[in-house]
Amino acid sequence: MPTVTVEPIRRVGILGYGYVGRGTAHALGAVVDVGWHDPSVPGSRPLAELARWADALVICVPTPMSNSGAADSSIVREVAEQLAGLGFARPVIVKSTVPPGTTDDLARRWPLLALVFSPEFLRERHYLEDAVAPARVVLGWSPTIDGPRRAQVRDLFRRRFTDAPLVELTTVEAELLKYSANALFGVKVALANELAELAARLGASWDAVRAALVLDPRVGDGHLAVPGPDGKRGFGGSCLPKDMAALLSVATDQHVDLEVVAAAVHANRRRRPPGG
Ligand SMILES: NC(=O)c1ccc[n+]([C@@H]2O[C@H](COP(=O)([O-])OP(=O)(O)OC[C@H]3O[C@@H](n4cnc5c(N)ncnc54)[C@H](O)[C@@H]3O)[C@@H](O)[C@H]2O)c1
Repeated sequence: MPTVTVEPIRRVGILGYGYVGRGTAHALGAVVDVGWHDPSVPGSRPLAELARWADALVICVPTPMSNSGAADSSIVREVAEQLAGLGFARPVIVKSTVPPGTTDDLARRWPLLALVFSPEFLRERHYLEDAVAPARVVLGWSPTIDGPRRAQVRDLFRRRFTDAPLVELTTVEAELLKYSANALFGVKVALANELAELAARLGASWDAVRAALVLDPRVGDGHLAVPGPDGKRGFGGSCLPKDMAALLSVATDQHVDLEVVAAAVHANRRRRPPGG
């Protein structure tokens, strides 16, 4: 087989410089030059200038919960439209959490954009250390990113994350994977809180039960502590409540009843009111 040479990505522009943007810059900064565009952060470069400079862009803008519970992807859409307007044809890596189907929808609207959805799994409280040590790198290819540009993106992540498995999926699979992870974590928290309440009634220590439970490798020891790392019961923070609500909204649109996820959200509201 002839060796295919890939033009390496050397300059990455980050769009949205919050937890995910800074984590991504921190991680990729080990192998590429990084610049960012975020009007609310000092040092922000103008979008058009950053797009001229960068070999690839990473979208890390917010996707907040709308009143209905659905994810509001409007900022991601605006940014994609701006990039298409600038004629940006190099890889665009979407890291913002978006509902399944969003990246392909963007690809249909702006076929010039070479889109790949790469979910981010960092935790806010450990965002820098998590960003450099992902359990796996996931690349969900849209139809608009061709072979050579896929090879560039693969090469970028392989250079940076030499030990992490690289998983290649469709965009919808990669988008669903992110929501699936957070749904599983939320369900684990809800179940652990129920069992901890029962343990207390029985005069048993949940911590002792949990310590023995997690010795079984099938269980996984995350998200079972009660209270959680923030000292509170139930789940809160900016990701689990929003992403579980978004997943329920997607399922409703698809006429699928996610009873277990809905029950976990319902049970959590009792222990921790919204915003708590
Ligand atoms: N925080 C987490 O732990 C985490 C983990 C995984 C995935 N995510 C997802 O990543 C995305 C970003 O989350 P975050 O926690 O980094 O958010 P954040 O609020 O910390 O940062 C987002 C940044 O984007 C900027 N921004 C808003 N509009 C912009 C625009 N048009 N152009 C450029 N910048 C713009 C904001 O000023 C802000 O600084 C969300 O979709 C979130 O669900 C977050």
